[in-house]
Amino acid sequence: MSDPGVWNDVDDYLSALLAPEDEVLAAALREAEEAGLPPIGVSPNAGKLLRLLAETQGARTVLEIGTLAGYSAIWLARALPAGGRLITLEYEERHAEVARRNLARAGLEEVVEVRVGAALELLPKLADEHLPPFDLVFVDADKANNPHYVEWALRLTTAGSLIVVDNVVRGGRVTDAGSDAPDVRGTRAALELIASHPRLSGTALQTVGVKGHDGFALARVLS
Ligand code: SAH
Ligand code: DHB
Ligand code: MG
Repeated sequence: MSDPGVWNDVDDYLSALLAPEDEVLAAALREAEEAGLPPIGVSPNAGKLLRLLAETQGARTVLEIGTLAGYSAIWLARALPAGGRLITLEYEERHAEVARRNLARAGLEEVVEVRVGAALELLPKLADEHLPPFDLVFVDADKANNPHYVEWALRLTTAGSLIVVDNVVRGGRVTDAGSDAPDVRGTRAALELIASHPRLSGTALQTVGVKGHDGFALARVLS
């Protein structure tokens, strides 16, 4: 049994070795901090994992729900081939502004589109556009709505697409079946949907490190 000090040291070691941040990613975090945004984006290691997953998918199109400062969007967009596209949804105009600046600095303004509004209002509009299915969806916004986001992700993807849900462990609170915390209830409902949905095959991994004790769910769209 190791303590959080060890987790952080290991995360720092692995991130420095395998997911080193370049100047663009470092600047994105600096900008976010200077603008007073909360430090709740994915870790460098998790960002690298998202990039690898998108690359392994051969993803050409990515949908992200929850932009914050664009940090995970930069990692994901770097996986895309020429002509690839990422759409990211963000409720807070202030966050979207920081993200647009960070994405422009990353040279990704032609690749990433930040749409502002409540995701549950933006998703039906997105569906009405009849875009090609998304190859990967990253769900990382208000956790209470996670089951709805997984349902929308199913509508906007196709066989072989990957759905990734962030923050499914919440310091271990996810095991509390009687919790009335909206994030726990939403996360449990999303995991139960992944477990039972005939079009999904999924699993979840807990993580420890610089962002504490949390985890990712991964679900492959089967049909
Ligand atoms: N994916 C980012 C972190 C996102 S943090 C990264 O890893 O770098 C969660 C974001 O979701 C916040 O910016 C928050 O404003 C946004 N959010 C919260 N509720 C939302 C909603 N209903 N619709 C869209 N975005 C929402
Ligand atoms: C929170 C949201 C996140 O997306 C995250 O990665 C960590 C924390 C939050 O709302 O507390
Ligand atoms: Mg998150």
